[in-house]
Amino acid sequence: MGIEYLKNEGLFRLTAQDTEYVIGIADGVYVGHVYYGRKIDDSRCGYLMRTDEKPFVPSNNIKDKGSFADCFPWEYSTWGVGDYRESCLRVRSADGYRGCELHYEGHRILDGKPRLPGLPATFEAGGKEGKAATLELDCRDHVLGLKVILRYSVFADSPAVVRSVELINEGQQPLYLEKVLTACMDMDGEDVDLLTLGGSWARERHMVRRPLCFGKQMVSSCRGESGHQDHPFLAVMGRDAGQDRGDVYAMHFVYSGNFVAEAELSQFGSVRMLMGINPEGFEWVLGQGESFTAPEVVCVYSDQGLGKMTRIFHDLYRGHLIRSSYLHKKRPILINNWEATYFDFDSRRLLEIAREAAERGIEMLVLDDGWFGQRNEPAGSLGDWKVNEKKIPEKLPCLVEEVKKLGIEFGIWFEPEMVSPDSDLYREHPDWAMHIPGREPVQSRAQYVLDLSRQEVVDYVWQSVSEILKSAPISYVKWDMNRQMTDVGGCCLGREHQGELFHRYILGVYELQERLHREFPDLLLENCASGGARFDPGMLYYSPQIWCSDDMDAVERLAIQEGTALLYPLGAMGAHVSACPNHIVGRITPFETRGHVAMAGTFGYELDITRLSEDEKNMIQEQVEMYHRFQPLVREGDYYRIASWSENHRYDCWQVVSKEKDEALVTYVQVLAEPNQRSRKIYLKGLAPEAEYRLEEEDEECRKEEFSMLDSDEKVTLPSMDGKIYKGALLMYGGLLVPRMKGDFVSVMYHFTRVG
Ligand code: GLA
Repeated sequence: MGIEYLKNEGLFRLTAQDTEYVIGIADGVYVGHVYYGRKIDDSRCGYLMRTDEKPFVPSNNIKDKGSFADCFPWEYSTWGVGDYRESCLRVRSADGYRGCELHYEGHRILDGKPRLPGLPATFEAGGKEGKAATLELDCRDHVLGLKVILRYSVFADSPAVVRSVELINEGQQPLYLEKVLTACMDMDGEDVDLLTLGGSWARERHMVRRPLCFGKQMVSSCRGESGHQDHPFLAVMGRDAGQDRGDVYAMHFVYSGNFVAEAELSQFGSVRMLMGINPEGFEWVLGQGESFTAPEVVCVYSDQGLGKMTRIFHDLYRGHLIRSSYLHKKRPILINNWEATYFDFDSRRLLEIAREAAERGIEMLVLDDGWFGQRNEPAGSLGDWKVNEKKIPEKLPCLVEEVKKLGIEFGIWFEPEMVSPDSDLYREHPDWAMHIPGREPVQSRAQYVLDLSRQEVVDYVWQSVSEILKSAPISYVKWDMNRQMTDVGGCCLGREHQGELFHRYILGVYELQERLHREFPDLLLENCASGGARFDPGMLYYSPQIWCSDDMDAVERLAIQEGTALLYPLGAMGAHVSACPNHIVGRITPFETRGHVAMAGTFGYELDITRLSEDEKNMIQEQVEMYHRFQPLVREGDYYRIASWSENHRYDCWQVVSKEKDEALVTYVQVLAEPNQRSRKIYLKGLAPEAEYRLEEEDEECRKEEFSMLDSDEKVTLPSMDGKIYKGALLMYGGLLVPRMKGDFVSVMYHFTRVG
């Protein structure tokens, strides 16, 4: 890892493992993108900016400065001075003029990585491997008096490059920032695909791949949250790139609010990728001497397809983004009462569930929505964080004590950012809800959003949440956020600053979560937003796990978890076994399959355990044992995607291999049974080719169980591979034969350990 300044060539070279990112200074002032990709280690690469061909640089051809601006590969593009492609920065002066041209002024190369004030960001970790280095490029617009610092950091143990930008008003007048994206990256590429993640409530983060066509293509959110619908991620990849081969360039935004992720194929066949805060509804007034820092963008290049990209993201997030003390710890297996009872519970019901759960090895009861105020339906009482004594007459500390007496932990749900119109809080402080004077605020899920740009509102929320947490030994919080924003008006911000509210709101959320992290360091925090509407790297900085989706149907989860695991380590994915028929899609899937699919995440249950059959309860016990056995591997290992149900419409398969390559777990789900077919050959990945692996006995059992689904008089044929020990090369290049199973939605897990 290193950052070098090659003075004679006017180049900055950032090396990170097997990759290299090169920035050039053209004409002494223009900061251009030279190269990003596999290490080339040649200081003569500056010609890649094409400044030796027409229209040349402005000092050689001032008459065509406009053409230069419109094709130069800018590191940070600005609006209004000739670059007509999508820009990163648009500034309005106090006199109302728009235009900005940045000139390089100087630089610093720093050991480590500066924190971003009030924002989540990757950080330098301990040890030699965790070290970071940062390049700061100082640029200036001389007319506006605007200083712009472009920041790039690299880490010793990751090939990722992370970028952020700081703007400082060093002029005499206020500046109006109409658009501040964090990063753009220009490259050649006419035959490329665009990969994004998209969906909706209950079907979040499905993979969406399409050819990048001429023009601008983007995904975005202006909902006040990163959202169910779009994800702050995009990748540009070779058309022939796949899981294990081809070039992939990816960007991921460490932010939880409005964003844009955009790619533009321009007239000369160049591609520009951009990412940052959505300019829609945004305007930031930068007073004299003030500074504004835009959230961080993580850039990843992979020369071996999506699989390598995924593992780079996983390692980076585990090593440099998640701070929770639970990062490398086993998470308790929880049971959440939401789908078991919805609002219809009292402490007697909760204790019944807890008792049964404890007997089967479940380790925590999570009390979901409905325990406070007068809340008996999804309307009312948000903001009144006092226990409902009709449901819990003995009050919370006694209930927690009773649960703990059963030998399990207690967790609780909050939705701290909201207020119900029917609440004491709203009656007392109607102006604390975001609203536009004279306009009836739009209700959604019968609630309003609190104006977290106001310190007294943030303080109230903090006080309510922390009081409850201090009142009893609560081990876990599910922090929910169940609506998108409308009526984005902040009555204390003043006329000029309304465009700051979306971002100030998110800064308020971050402040609250930072306090939670600092003052309750042992608390396990799981973020959530109507399922997975705020599953983003920003939230990951505060909570080691995030609720993936309200949809726990094992089949729908295959697509959701495939898209989520594309970027996030499995230990971050909240996944539970829920009841059947599934409450959202009505599908009936085997209990084992639901367990196998949830085992790819944090694992838990969300069903009424008291109503399960004895067989199912026994299966819980088995799954609990499996979880204890496999969780360290799932949490810490390397993830490989073997087959995608979303692509082939028949089966799904993924694998986790330990870093030492001494253990591997393969999960195979046969979504639809096919008649009259032979066994399916799947090719394992990431094993040591020379090593010998034993297929563990207990998983043979598991296969037999699947076979028992065949008609009893049918002869069972085991896979045609003899013996139980296989060479890594055989499993990877020869393949593993997965027998056909009878029935839809059935699954099997294979656990291999290295024996030689
Ligand atoms: C959201 C969450 C659910 C549940 C409900 C409670 O939808 O995603 O898991 O907590 O709120 O209202």
